[in-house]
Amino acid sequence: GKVLLAYSGGLDTSCILKWLLEEGYEVMAYIADLGQEEDFEAAREKAIQIGASKVFVEDLRKEIVEEVIFPTVQANAIYENVYLLGTSIARPVIARKQIEIAKREGCQFVSHGCTGKGNDQVRFELAYRTLMPTIEVIAPWREPRFYQRFAGRADLLKYAAENGIPVSQTPSKPWSTDENIYHISYEAGILEDPNVTPPKDMWKLIVDPELAPNTPELITITFKEGVPVRVVNEGDKTEVTEPLELFMYLNTVARRNGIGRIDIVENRFIGIKSRGCYETPGGTILRKAHMDLEGLTMDREVRAYRDEHVSLQFGKQLYNGLYFSPECQLVRSIIPLTQTTVNGVVRLKLYKGNVDVLGRYSDTEKLYDMDESSMDVQGGFEPVDSEGFIRIQSIRLKKWGAGLN
Ligand code: ARG
Ligand code: SIN
Repeated sequence: GKVLLAYSGGLDTSCILKWLLEEGYEVMAYIADLGQEEDFEAAREKAIQIGASKVFVEDLRKEIVEEVIFPTVQANAIYENVYLLGTSIARPVIARKQIEIAKREGCQFVSHGCTGKGNDQVRFELAYRTLMPTIEVIAPWREPRFYQRFAGRADLLKYAAENGIPVSQTPSKPWSTDENIYHISYEAGILEDPNVTPPKDMWKLIVDPELAPNTPELITITFKEGVPVRVVNEGDKTEVTEPLELFMYLNTVARRNGIGRIDIVENRFIGIKSRGCYETPGGTILRKAHMDLEGLTMDREVRAYRDEHVSLQFGKQLYNGLYFSPECQLVRSIIPLTQTTVNGVVRLKLYKGNVDVLGRYSDTEKLYDMDESSMDVQGGFEPVDSEGFIRIQSIRLKKWGAGLN
């Protein structure tokens, strides 16, 4: 049968490719360009050399930014209050293209290099099965024939050497990473002890905040219905509007100002705790700016409803690999409806790891009334009305209080 393997060019998936050939499959390799730092042509060559019958390199950067990252920002989706979901958001985009190609090429199987302990196996496979219920999945790290033969990295290296699989010259790092245009993750290896502080040279994308420039950088971000549509650097007057370019520019300014590093212990879907370090440069700026503008432009109850039913749910759905589920389709369809008033500009200061809001305005919002909010001006209602409001609100509290005494 024909297998379409999600291939990264690294040691694991290279050995998997070779092993699948040995097992008698015809193997095609699929490489997703999500903006990670990678030599895609070298990876293509390597797959061919190992024996892939075809290789597909797909540029999915625009898709991931416009279709998944921006809605994630609009929804303020986050996992366990800190993780910005950088790996989670990439999986549906990777899986969808993989299934599209598998269908077109008549593949009966798809394969991936995820371990049997993580979230990614769940995310890929729930997506595959939703998009193509008849597809069969080969997960070598869950196949005894594979994992009993390759107990660790040493076995993989030996297999690679025996089979003429080139291994990259860069020495292996004592942790594992996953990178895309939104973030990079670091897990496993020396990081498994949650009390081990990551070495300074682990962090790859973002400048150490202590070494970031001593002068702040000022930028303004314009949002239209919760989507960033324009970024201006107030210093050098750089202006970007095209979505992919805009997002990459935010990455650039965040990275040089030390913005977007976190180090957490999270709960994986399957019930295991896991320590992870993440760098999410542009995403960290966008989250802060977007939430700020919502304060000015969003109705209180719409916001509360959204926080509970959209932010929380979408974050969980992304994390748990349920992007193509009916409930997530419902949630995704609601996101734009919550954002119709989120139009305006946020002015920010970027400085040594911090994103500070300097001010915000909106030409279209109708909810904030300076006179009404002012301590110095009479509002559009009588002060005595507030007295009645408090008296009514007190009815049940007075009863409760009386019971306490
Ligand atoms: N813990 C994060 C998540 O579940 C990152 C996973 C990283 N994946 C990887 N294959 N290295 O989203
Ligand atoms: C993996 O297990 O392949 C990486 C970690 C994860 O998916 O959570």
